[in-house]
Amino acid sequence: MIGTPPVPESRHAAGSAGALMVAATARLKASGSETSRLDARVLMAHVLGRDQAWLVGHPEYVLSVEEARTFDELGARRQAGEPVAYLVGEREFWSLPFRVTRHTLIPRPDSETLVAAALASIADDGKPLRILDIGTGSGCLLLAILSDLPLASGVGVDVSKGALAVARDNAVRMEIDERAVFTSGDWLNDFDRQTHGVFDLVITNPPYIRTIEMASLEPDVRAFEPLRALQAGDDGLDAYRCITPVLPSVMRPGASFIGEFGIDQQADVSALLCDAGFHDVKILNDVAGRPRCAVARYG
Ligand SMILES: C[S@@+](CC[C@H](N)C(=O)[O-])C[C@H]1O[C@@H](n2cnc3c(N)ncnc32)[C@H](O)[C@@H]1O
Repeated sequence: MIGTPPVPESRHAAGSAGALMVAATARLKASGSETSRLDARVLMAHVLGRDQAWLVGHPEYVLSVEEARTFDELGARRQAGEPVAYLVGEREFWSLPFRVTRHTLIPRPDSETLVAAALASIADDGKPLRILDIGTGSGCLLLAILSDLPLASGVGVDVSKGALAVARDNAVRMEIDERAVFTSGDWLNDFDRQTHGVFDLVITNPPYIRTIEMASLEPDVRAFEPLRALQAGDDGLDAYRCITPVLPSVMRPGASFIGEFGIDQQADVSALLCDAGFHDVKILNDVAGRPRCAVARYG
């Protein structure tokens, strides 16, 4: 008989992708997600191993019981507030797919300002530039810059061994691992200057949230993202106070520094950089027009 092939027994009970996404969207909306439709679509695409465009064209696809169960479980975790990036294990940054886990901050679009500033600050004149990323997390800043500068190489430092494992994995997936080294350390206190030498560019997105601001962060951020990636003392500058005095010891004369900061921290970060011997400090805004990063020259 000619016709639609029979749906295997293991798929009968599950339902179509379209129907399951509609139901999940309603549940996620009721639980407070402002991106309920997108969340449901991203989770479904992840479960089926398809892209979202395929899903839009195939709402009638009938899930296996196993696929439906996985989709339900991820939906329930999303309802409990877990960020979608942790559920699917990935977040796009600088148009590159970064693996993320709960050991790493989820890369933010605001931080792309640093990558753009880094690429603008250095002359890609064929020299093999060296880049240091302090508090590398998923490796997103270092690897994004290296992906645009094929002759450059760099080092990422982090205190979190879990984050360093993710950063190394991202470097391998992006086939940049021969140019990126990741090393464990408490800021630059354990940094092996003999092995790594000095750098043409130092970049950092350190923790900078003031203790008092922690309570007003989005509940998803507070509950799921690593605390030590966020919090930095009463004025949010604890990390900057550790990092800036030792920066000159890892920078070539004429090298650039680029650092992300939080709300109303531009004057304090500029002052810390000037105290450490930096000059030409410029403040750049992020895509939303908020002051977001300091660019400075050393020597
Ligand atoms: C705001 S996150 C930035 C992560 C990544 N660079 C990004 O932009 O998404 C700050 C990072 O600093 C790391 N960190 C916190 N305290 C540290 C310390 N004492 N030494 C080295 N890294 C530290 C955290 O583990 C975290 O990965």
